[in-house]
Parts: sequence; C-alpha cells; structure tokens
Amino acid sequence: MAAALERPVAGAEPTDATIRRAAGLRGELALPGDKSISHRALMLALLADGESRIDGCGDGADVRSTAGIVRALGATVERLAEDRRTVTYRVSSPGADGLREPTATLDCGNSGTSLRLFAGILAGLPLKAVLDGDASLRGRPVARIIEPLRSMGAELSARQDDSLPPVTVIGRTPLRSVAWTTAVPSAQVKSAVLLAGLRAEGTTRVHESVATRDHTERMLRARGIDVRTELRDGGGASVSIEGGTRVQAIDERVPGDLSSAMFWLVAGAIHPDADLTIRDAGVNPTRRAGLDLLRAMGGRIDEDLVRTDGEPAADLRVRSSELHAIDIGPADVAAAIDELPILCLAATQASGRTTIRGAGELRHKESDRIAGIVDGLAAMGARIEVDGHDLTIDGPTKLHGAAVDSRGDHRLAMTFAVAGLIADGETHIHDAASAAVSYPGFFGDLERIRS
Ligand code: S3P
Repeated sequence: MAAALERPVAGAEPTDATIRRAAGLRGELALPGDKSISHRALMLALLADGESRIDGCGDGADVRSTAGIVRALGATVERLAEDRRTVTYRVSSPGADGLREPTATLDCGNSGTSLRLFAGILAGLPLKAVLDGDASLRGRPVARIIEPLRSMGAELSARQDDSLPPVTVIGRTPLRSVAWTTAVPSAQVKSAVLLAGLRAEGTTRVHESVATRDHTERMLRARGIDVRTELRDGGGASVSIEGGTRVQAIDERVPGDLSSAMFWLVAGAIHPDADLTIRDAGVNPTRRAGLDLLRAMGGRIDEDLVRTDGEPAADLRVRSSELHAIDIGPADVAAAIDELPILCLAATQASGRTTIRGAGELRHKESDRIAGIVDGLAAMGARIEVDGHDLTIDGPTKLHGAAVDSRGDHRLAMTFAVAGLIADGETHIHDAASAAVSYPGFFGDLERIRS
C-alpha cells in the first residue's frame, strides 16, 4: 500500500493519513449518495404521512445526523441495506401533524444543512425543540434563518444575540406567508423558508440574486406540492410555494454526489497519468458549476447521461489534462461553493493566474475554508494569496509533501489527500477522518485507484 494510514481502524477513516505520490490513477469509482438530496429525502419522508423508501442515500456522518433527528421527531427509520457509502432507508411517519416533541436536544453534528432545514420544518410545527451540533456548527451563522422564520410567526432564539447555535424553535401552525429576499445566495436559507412555507397560509416567496441548488423545489414538486420557479435576468431566481398541502410519501433514488466526484475529477485532470471513470454522478444543472469550471480550465471530462428523470445523473470519465487559469466571479462562487477548495488545487496546476473573487461565504463553512486552503496549499508549495475575500493562485507549481491540517473539515481533508497524489514526498493530513462527514470510504477509494 502506497499510503501508510497512521491509525487504521476497521470500518472507519484513519484519524490522520499519510499520502504519497501516485505513479498513475486508474479505475472506476462509485460515489456516496448525494448529501443535499439525502438530507431532503429523509426530511420530506418525515413530513409525509406513510411509508417512503430511499435508495442510494448518503451514509456519511451528516446524513446520519438527519436520520437521527427524523427518528427523534417520531418517524421509524429502518436501514434495509447498506454498502458503506450508501444505505437504503424505509421511513414510516405519522405525517407532519402527528410528529412528537423531542425529549432531548436535536444533534445536528457537523451538518449545517440539518440545522438550517430542520429549523424551517420545526417553525411550522406546534412543538418546542433545540437544534445543536459540534464545535464547528456552533460557530456558523444562523441569523439568516432566524429572521425569515420569525417574520412568519415562529419563535426562535440562539446564542450570542441570536447569531450562533444552539437554536431554540417554538413553532406554530399555520405560519404567515412571507416574501423573503436572501442577503447571501444560500440553498439552505431558501429551503428553510420553503419548508416553513409548506405550513403557511397562502403563497411564500423567496428571491435570490443567484439561483442556488434546486433540490428542495424538485423534491417538493415530486411529492405533490405546488412550487414555481421564475429565473431572472442576471442569474437570480424567485421561488414560490403554496402552503397547506400535505406532502405525499414517495420512493426516491438518490444519485451519486457530484461534490464528492469533484475530488476524483480534479485528481484525474492534474495527474499526468490518469484515466478514471465515475459512475452515476448527479448532474443537476444547479449543482454542476464546479464540473463546468474544471472543463473551462481545460479538464478533459466526458459525460454520458444515464438518467434524466427526477435528478439527472451521468457517468463521468476524466483523463490527464493541460489546465489553464480562469477567472471565477461571485456568481460562480455561489454556484460552486462546495467545490472551491478542490478547484483551488486544480488552479495550482493550471498555467497562469486564477482569480476567485467574492468568496467570503467560504469563511462560514465547516471551517474558515479560505484560511484552511491557503495554509495547506501554501505549505505544499502553492503560490496562493488572499486579499480579503479574493484569492489569486499562480500556476503551474510543483507541489511537495508537508504536514497540513484539515481543521476537521471534510472538504479540506479530501483536497489535501488529492494534492498528496501529485506532490513529491509525503503529505501528512491531520484529522483526515473528517472526510467521513460526506464520504465514508474516501481513503479506501484513493488507494484502490492508485497504480
Ligand atoms: C447546501 C447548501 C450550501 C452548501 C452545503 C449544502 C444544501 O450551503 O454549501 O454544503 O444542501 O442546501 P449554503 O446554503 O450555506 O450556501
């Protein structure tokens, strides 16, 4: 084995990892179930009356947090089958009107999506609940959901002047409908308001300056809810939902997570001897900006559509590529927010100066991703500079191994591991185990494709 995993534990990710350069990268990869869709499938199964089946659901720590909360609110959640990256769930729920008040704090772990979307759900239920999570989640902003949900008639409060978790929600039914303009483009905030809008009288509207991922809208429509989207000139969108309709229980098949696939797409593009195929990746138009940006940089990626109903999915093949620099502006930042760390690594191997402008939201993710990526990649020899919320990366640069810190952030852990595949010497990643937040089995896959 080319990488020595310092503390291998059967069935778990290593706590720290040491990655060595790979001679080549070859093979096929299956992905974890899409994290965003998995959360929503579980939440909507909770709100629907009856039995829902979810195939291909992500089985990372974040989605498990959501499954735990669905149980705590009164649904039965059974794991019918699992294969380490995905799980098949059967959820039986009494429906939104039959849910029970939780007896303990609802633990969202590391998951911002769980906290913000459940706040929207709880706002419309006549219950009191407290949403909390780990140290990282306790540092993430919640005023952005408290304000709209309060204006709909729910009572919410949070630590430090209502800015940080834990969040206490006292919901009410029915809520008042609102028209809300989000201050920063955020699918989590939009989704929280739409989920509250389900339990509001009349039409609730959300306006956003950049159209964010639309999984909530698609999945609500598939369950019988009237949700309409108007795209605006300049990339914005207005979404409306009619309240008062019951959510239907349906079966869902979750595609592979394109945000996880991006680690292999960049690995294949930057490695000089690579040919990788990734099966069944979700390619929803509102999620594929990272893939399109990598292509715009010269990434040789073939896409073979395998599913067009519901959430579209494709098999992707990537080969070694000659990358060149691009300019990533604020609209791209919002659309490819989760893919920016790995795109920064791609930029270190692209010829010319890549700029990323208006990336401030990256400071409010599972860690301050601007600080984390700059520290880690600079330690490996990258020429990367930060000026406020803007980044510039000059390439191509030969990377060398170094000791880097994931800061407990799954996307940083995986970015540094991919960097280690092309770096000279050894790359030591502190807290590599955080990869399991979205991608259990990531380090096993990384070893398997090494040739
Ligand atoms: C997500 C939305 C994004 C993204 C997160 C998942 C979602 O967060 O970064 O990983 O599932 O709605 P923001 O809404 O805070 O941008």
